[in-house]
Amino acid sequence: MTDTRTTAHHPLDKVVAITGAGSGIGRATALALAERGATVVLGARNADRVEQVAAGIRENGGRAVAVPTDVRRRADLVRLTDTAVSAFGRLDVLVNNAGIGPISPLEDLRVDEWDDMIDVNLRGVLHGIAAALPVFRRRRAGHLVTVASTAAYRTAPGQAVYAATKTAVRTVCEGLRQEVGDLRVTIVSPGFVHTDFVNAVADPDARAAMTARRDAIAMDPIAIADAIAYAIAQPDQIDVNEIVVRPTAQR
Ligand SMILES: NC(=O)c1ccc[n+]([C@@H]2O[C@H](COP(=O)([O-])OP(=O)(O)OC[C@H]3O[C@@H](n4cnc5c(N)ncnc54)[C@H](OP(=O)(O)O)[C@@H]3O)[C@@H](O)[C@H]2O)c1
Repeated sequence: MTDTRTTAHHPLDKVVAITGAGSGIGRATALALAERGATVVLGARNADRVEQVAAGIRENGGRAVAVPTDVRRRADLVRLTDTAVSAFGRLDVLVNNAGIGPISPLEDLRVDEWDDMIDVNLRGVLHGIAAALPVFRRRRAGHLVTVASTAAYRTAPGQAVYAATKTAVRTVCEGLRQEVGDLRVTIVSPGFVHTDFVNAVADPDARAAMTARRDAIAMDPIAIADAIAYAIAQPDQIDVNEIVVRPTAQR
């Protein structure tokens, strides 16, 4: 039985692909995993920004490569996972992190934003699963980590479509876990995290209110990066299925 828990003497020997790695939780996760010794393959749409994250890791002696990735495009996820295999010989973990939250009341009929959330938050995760599963199957090992949200457990006014996408993602991952006995499947659900996430909210008053609340109570993204690192670092026979991390002040 191999214990893959990481210590100063046992670095995290994993190749991890991360979507949405240019900022926020994805960036923090890339840095945290690289610091523990993992090799990271980083995807996001903004090529310069994600390359900066990878370059920073390499300058600190880590192994990282950036791959421009739009999770709405299935082929981009295939390229991300293929890059892990071609550059580093294997893919151990895919972190499905990319997500958007242009939240608004249903009555505002921001139908294009509803579509965007479905495309990125749900379809993007499905594209990640579709790209990673064949790679994992070949080695009979692999780990899918998906960043959902506390909205997957309880919605709130203005969050109906966002919460629906996150609830769906949680259901898909639980279904996947039940289907694939030999692969690990983890959902990490953050409460309010201090990132640029709120910038997508279109209504200026709602955005200002969310930004003020974020600045008052939100967690540093490191809290979520640490939770992801914990799940990944468990021994292969231990599958951490769900982690919920909220600011203490969040109801
Ligand atoms: N912040 C919170 O309070 C909070 C709470 C619960 C859950 N979450 C979840 O945490 C995850 C990360 O969010 P965050 O807070 O870190 O927000 P963020 O700072 O806005 O980061 C989102 C990342 O996703 C990327 N992204 C957006 N659309 C993409 C697409 N179509 N394809 C590939 N990458 C895309 C962005 O880069 P590009 O624009 O360059 O693509 C960015 O790197 C999301 O799934 C979100 O739902 C956040």
